[in-house]
Amino acid sequence: MTELTRYTLKDVAKKDGRDGAETWLVIHDMVYDVTKYKAEHPGGPELLDEYAGQDATSGFEDFGHSSEAKHMLKDFLIGELVEEDKRGNRKKNGNANAKTRRRFLSILCGNCAS
Ligand code: HEM
Repeated sequence: MTELTRYTLKDVAKKDGRDGAETWLVIHDMVYDVTKYKAEHPGGPELLDEYAGQDATSGFEDFGHSSEAKHMLKDFLIGELVEEDKRGNRKKNGNANAKTRRRFLSILCGNCAS
């Protein structure tokens, strides 16, 4: 099997469907080009636009797509995220944000400070 093209989240962010740009989504660390599929999506193009250029894993999973829908993903596959941008490796940043948010909340609510 041939190696998949690797993209960064920054590359994906440019494909936000605006100003004639393509519409790319990330689902489980894989990069999909849904530009042509958008209009056919049973959930409507708006939902795909909402996640355009971003990680749509939670949106895709929250709806609980059928196995047929999951099977269709391969038709739109164009690449894979670089290792450092994969979900598991992004956690470090996520935690940093959570820490900042907790500190901010504890300032707002003096009693909650720990
Ligand atoms: C390449 C990505 C996607 C594909 C191939 C896809 C495919 C499909 C398919 C085939 C259906 C019909 C029901 C089913 O078979 O499960 C569907 C429905 C739906 N999809 Fe997606 N979907 C994609 C991305 C998303 C994303 C990112 C969202 C995020 C919000 C989403 C939200 C929905 C919703 C809400 C419906 C229900 C529509 C209804 O029944 O009224 N989909 N999708």
